[in-house]
Amino acid sequence: MTLSNQRDPKKGAPDARKGANLYLVGFMGTGKSTLGRMMAARLRYTFLDSDGEIERVRGKTIPEIFATEGEEAFRRYEREFIQSGHPSSGCVVACGGGLITQDGMLEALKAKGVVVCLVASADTILERTAANRNRPLLNCEDPRERIRELLAEREPVYRRAGTLVLTDNRSRCELLAHIHRIYLREGRERASRPGS
Ligand code: S3P
Repeated sequence: MTLSNQRDPKKGAPDARKGANLYLVGFMGTGKSTLGRMMAARLRYTFLDSDGEIERVRGKTIPEIFATEGEEAFRRYEREFIQSGHPSSGCVVACGGGLITQDGMLEALKAKGVVVCLVASADTILERTAANRNRPLLNCEDPRERIRELLAEREPVYRRAGTLVLTDNRSRCELLAHIHRIYLREGRERASRPGS
């Protein structure tokens, strides 16, 4: 099957020909969107980015949503996207870094598919996020300190998130192969669980 004849990603029905969704979670700048897009091409799945989908549906950029409606509204849009805004199979979903910090969201993702958490050092994150200003939480005087604070605050939830994959100093090719193996292994485990 080619990417062009896949279902419309906005519609929610499962695609029986495709496997469970793969959710990439983790802090900003850990490589979720870059690796997610490549992973989707590798699996011939649809790639979705939670931020991108929210921007598309709302007709505003993430910084505009934060500025005009506030973070709380943005977090609600993230929950809506996970609960009812995407298909239940055949997708690789890059999740915004704060999505799983909300109560119940990690459990929701685990119920819907395989969750892989990407990890990187604070220095790598700073380097990868410095170039663009589209992350309102890092538009501050001392982004390095902000990254450290947020990482410390979120570490417990990222640790619970699923298999952790360190993306520092590893080639994309190696990372894709690693994530692919995790997806196949955990997908098999999910499929063999009673009730799946
Ligand atoms: C956020 C991460 C961003 C985006 C928003 C808030 C966060 O996504 O959802 O700026 O709270 O960590 P990325 O992780 O894709 O940068």
